[in-house]
Amino acid sequence: MALEAQSAAIVAQFDYTDEQVNSAVNEFRRQMTEGLEKDGTSLSQIPTYVTGVPNGTEKGLYMAVDLGGTNFRVCSIQLNGDTTFNLTFSKVAIPRKLMVAKTAQELFAFLAKQIELFLQTHHEDHFEQHVRRRMTMSSPDGYKDEHVFRLGFTFSFPVQQVGINKGTLIRWTKGFDIPDAIGKDVCALLQNEIDKLHLPVKVAALVNDTVGTLMARSYSSPGKTGTVLGAIFGTGTNGAYVEKLSNLKKPLSGEYDKTTGEMVINTEWGSFDNQLSVLPNTAWDVALDKASPNPGIQMYEKRVSGMFLGEILRLVIIDLLKDPKVSFFKDENSSSNDWKSTTNIVSDSSIYTQWGVDTAIMSVAAADNTPELSTLRGELEKQLDICSAGLDDAQAFKAIANAIGRRSARLSAVAIAAIVLQTGKLTDSANADEPIDIGVDGSLVEHYPYFRDMIYEALRTIDGIGEEGAKRIRIGIAKDGSGVGAALIALVAAGMEERLTTADYLGELRSNAKSNNLTVVPEDGETAAQD
Ligand code: GLC
Repeated sequence: MALEAQSAAIVAQFDYTDEQVNSAVNEFRRQMTEGLEKDGTSLSQIPTYVTGVPNGTEKGLYMAVDLGGTNFRVCSIQLNGDTTFNLTFSKVAIPRKLMVAKTAQELFAFLAKQIELFLQTHHEDHFEQHVRRRMTMSSPDGYKDEHVFRLGFTFSFPVQQVGINKGTLIRWTKGFDIPDAIGKDVCALLQNEIDKLHLPVKVAALVNDTVGTLMARSYSSPGKTGTVLGAIFGTGTNGAYVEKLSNLKKPLSGEYDKTTGEMVINTEWGSFDNQLSVLPNTAWDVALDKASPNPGIQMYEKRVSGMFLGEILRLVIIDLLKDPKVSFFKDENSSSNDWKSTTNIVSDSSIYTQWGVDTAIMSVAAADNTPELSTLRGELEKQLDICSAGLDDAQAFKAIANAIGRRSARLSAVAIAAIVLQTGKLTDSANADEPIDIGVDGSLVEHYPYFRDMIYEALRTIDGIGEEGAKRIRIGIAKDGSGVGAALIALVAAGMEERLTTADYLGELRSNAKSNNLTVVPEDGETAAQD
């Protein structure tokens, strides 16, 4: 009984009431405006120089790579021009030691090597022709440019972007920490390593995964008014949305097309409210932050995203294990365990190690509705070496995990609501019957049971949205958004560089924007490399 009461008290600490949700939405909007006005704010509101979204007619073969979480993905994407595409990809886990390597060069050399392996495996003809060509050229760099793949580089960290394929790293997030990379142009870092391997690849576009998700969703589900927000709820969390240029008050260093009147903004909302004026802050949030590589930063992300939820849960569990008043994952003897055994936690269980609890187990806990929670108890044993847990232990574990997951979903609703309200679409009578389209991707939103339902539940309670507004908001998965979206931006970039000088391509974008009804992406991608 003591355990039940104690776990209920913990659960209550993770409540995030309707009132708190509403005041967080107001604060989010205030911080959005602040970020559009000046640099160095909590919400970075980074201009991306992408001034429109695609309409589904784009065509061509492109490459994309994606660095931003636990895995590095390399893909090639055939855009078919009819809202469909074909994607081939390979995925490799990033060795943890490279995430904290001494030099950026070590990480980027590994990435270039993966691109080489991908080309050898999936585009062998192209690759071998290229090697032959190179060997017959007097100069190793003498091959013709059209044989070169244009690559969109999805790099999902805060970057000060100064052009379509140029941007310097502001700070690392999500467990990466290679100080030597800060302030460097990440496209140049990758291109250098690609060139060392003499690969037929040009880094044509730099893309945040949220911008990619927004582009991909717009390509595959075009509506009258286009997608308004691309968001990731995965290892990290962030969103990119379409903002009116007139609201963007801070100076921009690079050139951009002004005719669409809009620009995609990468909010970097992971750092919303680093000052903690509205975010919840339990003792476990404090402990997690303190032991993280970036204390005081990404405070919203640390309460919302997959990388951190398991760790919050772990910290709660450890406290409960130490609490002399409760009997948690321990039995006096086998009579107090419904499976008539005694619980054992193996001494080197990962429950005792920082980051040792994978958020995936929270999905198992949320989904397990069996009377004895036997699936969850099986996973506790398999993943955490907690053997023969009793039903009461599993119930407490599930209740606490659910409370952490629910708080994350309600906080996610805050960002979504603030951006929907910011676009003004709910009060725009011209498109009153159009859905407000949002593309999402990431392990949490994809795999955590009822994550979207919990977001909608919170949205309905938000002033200015309510039942009716929530019905109009369409949150759909844009799977592999970062790959396809990066390809779409590489397409824009390829069109720019082939036909025009840097100064002139803006004129080209402008005329495309007009002829495509405010779409800046060229209608055909025949500039792509196709041998
Ligand atoms: C982190 C990164 C951000 C990225 C997000 C989702 O918040 O800083 O750039 O979009 O994770 O991957």
